[in-house]
Amino acid sequence: MDGITILGTGEYVPDTTATNEMFAKFIDTSDEWITTRTGIKERKISSSTPNFMMGAQAGRQAVENAGLTPKDIDCIIVSTCTPDFFYPNTACLIQNVLGAQPCACIDVNTACTGFITALDLARSYLAMNVYKTILVMASERLTNQIDYEDRGSCILFGDGAGAVVVQKGENKLYYSHSGAEGDMLESLYCKVYYDKNNPFHKEDDFLKDKIDTPQKERYLQMDGRAVYKFAVDAMAGAVAKICADSGFSLDDIDLVVPHQANLRIIQAAIKKMNVDESKVYTNLETHGNTSSSCIPMCLAELDKAGRLKRGMRICLVGFGGGLTYGATIFEY
Ligand code: ACO
Repeated sequence: MDGITILGTGEYVPDTTATNEMFAKFIDTSDEWITTRTGIKERKISSSTPNFMMGAQAGRQAVENAGLTPKDIDCIIVSTCTPDFFYPNTACLIQNVLGAQPCACIDVNTACTGFITALDLARSYLAMNVYKTILVMASERLTNQIDYEDRGSCILFGDGAGAVVVQKGENKLYYSHSGAEGDMLESLYCKVYYDKNNPFHKEDDFLKDKIDTPQKERYLQMDGRAVYKFAVDAMAGAVAKICADSGFSLDDIDLVVPHQANLRIIQAAIKKMNVDESKVYTNLETHGNTSSSCIPMCLAELDKAGRLKRGMRICLVGFGGGLTYGATIFEY
């Protein structure tokens, strides 16, 4: 099968900056603790822009950078685990803002692994000639799901969106590997919050005993240590599997863009992968963890800085709620 060609990239960075010092004013934490445990100094928070509007702005930028118009897009694939609506899906909402009708609109949710899933799906559609030009993106407003009284999780997350426009890359390499461990769901989840007033429903007790109080039910729940341990092994394992399948070693890779969850996770994973740290790109120092938006936002930054060159071999690798994981190596 052929690979992909990225024609353009885009990103949306929200307006509000939340520094570590700001967190120290309302929870028991410090800049020193957050910096040494996570590498994060600040994150950007969408104070009033809905998720789909962030996505639309990143998508518009990617389409313009590709030298195209929204009507040239045959399909929009959006990764999000923080949608504004159950339906319509986020891709339809973004299509409407862009005026990209009547293209196909698909959402995927593998939590923070989602952009890799979306790119794999796009690549398959392109290789099978189902669509010619696809807008692949991630848009996340994790801060909608965060309990700002939980110091173990609230300091990690920011908001944002990233996008790429892709077409088929004739004879370009593309390898990927994804997986999930559904039995680890309790390590990281956010339950859908339902109205309790339905006369036919009894109280849903699935995972109820895991949550302190009913008020906390709608928030992200995380066992940080369990996720940390899983992430290091899963990311290194996925990349090792691709290397074994493709015959490449990480010496053949020019750039690694990992999910931006925690600098210590990234450092431990790259040590396990045995990859040169200078090839690894991070932006979590200023953006925090923007879930599945991390990777396409990094790609947009790299593109803006002129660091993406045709023929480069790029490795994307991530993990997230599920627990899921995935990695891909492709030629730019
Ligand atoms: N400030 C100060 N102290 C804190 C804070 C904080 N913000 N948070 C926790 N602590 C305390 C704990 O209460 C604990 O105190 P204790 O020893 O008195 O009990 C101590 O620090 C150590 O806590 P740990 O949880 O062991 O700290 P750790 O070094 O593991 O760091 C962290 C916590 C940063 C959450 C880390 O475990 C991590 O990054 N895990 C992975 C998280 C992740 O990547 N999640 C992905 C979510 S993405 C998605 O799919 C939506």
